[in-house]
Amino acid sequence: MQSNKPAILVLILLLLCGGAAPTTQPTSAPRGGTEPYAERYRPQFHFSARKNWLNDPNGLVFYKGTYHLFFQHNPDGIDWGNMTWGHAVSRNLVGWTQVEHAIHPDALGTIFSGSAVVDWNNTSGFKAGPEAPLVALYTSAGGQNEASKGKPFTQSLTYSTDAGRTWMKYDKNPVVAHIRGDNRDPKVLWHAPTKRWIMALYLDGPDYALLASDDLKSWTHLQTLAGMPGTECPDFFELPIDGDAKNTRWVFWCANNRYVLGTFDGQTFTQTDGPYTLCDEKYCYAAQTYSDIPADDGRRIQEAWMRGAKVPEMPWNQQMAFPTVLTLRTITGSVRLCKEPIREIETLRTRGFHRKGVTLSPGGEVFDDFEAELIELVAEIEPGTAKRFGFELRGQRIVYDREAGALEHVACSSTKCELLNGRLLLHILVDRTSVETFIDHGRASTVDFVVIDPANRTLKTIVEDGTITLRTLDVYPLKSGWQ
Ligand code: FRU
Repeated sequence: MQSNKPAILVLILLLLCGGAAPTTQPTSAPRGGTEPYAERYRPQFHFSARKNWLNDPNGLVFYKGTYHLFFQHNPDGIDWGNMTWGHAVSRNLVGWTQVEHAIHPDALGTIFSGSAVVDWNNTSGFKAGPEAPLVALYTSAGGQNEASKGKPFTQSLTYSTDAGRTWMKYDKNPVVAHIRGDNRDPKVLWHAPTKRWIMALYLDGPDYALLASDDLKSWTHLQTLAGMPGTECPDFFELPIDGDAKNTRWVFWCANNRYVLGTFDGQTFTQTDGPYTLCDEKYCYAAQTYSDIPADDGRRIQEAWMRGAKVPEMPWNQQMAFPTVLTLRTITGSVRLCKEPIREIETLRTRGFHRKGVTLSPGGEVFDDFEAELIELVAEIEPGTAKRFGFELRGQRIVYDREAGALEHVACSSTKCELLNGRLLLHILVDRTSVETFIDHGRASTVDFVVIDPANRTLKTIVEDGTITLRTLDVYPLKSGWQ
């Protein structure tokens, strides 16, 4: 079993302070406004590792009030390498506590991406005490370290019997032998109608596979999904269409944000629609959704790696995108995935700036001297006659071009999105090194990694060639999620 010193220290601290013993890792441990989370460019409401490299979110699972975010991590360096599962916990998805790394490299390989589930029925037989076992499936990346030289990529299992605090590797690893190529990134889900586990696995080229298991330890091949619209990090889940639980589709997801829709009877996935693209992959990659969100919440919550660049002089490299909720909606007659920021962003809001029914011409301004650093902006815009309109937030331009039917964002990227109903709803999040925009409740969305000048706090409106009406404008300076 691996050591878990920080979690134990936090527990002792809580007990000394008279706090009740937590059932899961506490998230209210002091992280302070001081080092290491207050560095000049430290994202304040996006997860980043305390130090060193991070890429894909892994093992996203919710158990007894705690969200677990594992992540591809190099514990020893600022660049990719020595892949290990870092681990952070949260009670609200906006404030995180990084705890002891969960899975370390071994003789089967370094630890590549994967997923985690709560084994409520103890199908694995790992239960030992009051907690349901948490079980994670990951890739043992053979040949990536000295100890695993000459070994192929296989899939392995680790489990926790203490609510995710400590993790024990299964002694009969790997649980899925090498199939082909650098097969990797198992995403596991419970299929209730057939009462068994399903694994979506990346094979190689554009091919994936579905496997099934009764106990998470022994897996059989169900189907090869050839010619999918992407590679790596699959996700596979069912969603209602327009909120109708009786009318659902399965989403098969690839790391590049491309997906297909279909049906799944527990044995065979049959594609019905797609492929489609949810958002550009440049700064948003390898997303995965949480397992075991309680039914009374019911959200399909996704985290993605915001793959950016190293920010000079900072002790960490890379960050996560802001968590989003996925839904399937019918848009102009066809069913598409949409994503919106999770509502927990509201817990970070401070006193806002609100305007209603303001008509603006070129050069007109609503913000005057209003300034902010961490920004949530929600605007419903009636485009009127203007050809181009939008906002410039801390020097980052987000401009809708009517002729192009596209949103231009940050460094000249452009995302297609025709106007519907003559209105444009923009929901924009600005952190120290990112701008994320969600159009019409996530019908289209953009993620941009950008290092923003810390001194620039200005907000401006942009109106070109005509007028617009801001039907509503709500801007909330946000507080840090680290406090
Ligand atoms: C995706 C990916 C995965 C792999 C991991 C390694 O970004 O290449 O396929 O498991 O990163 O860090």
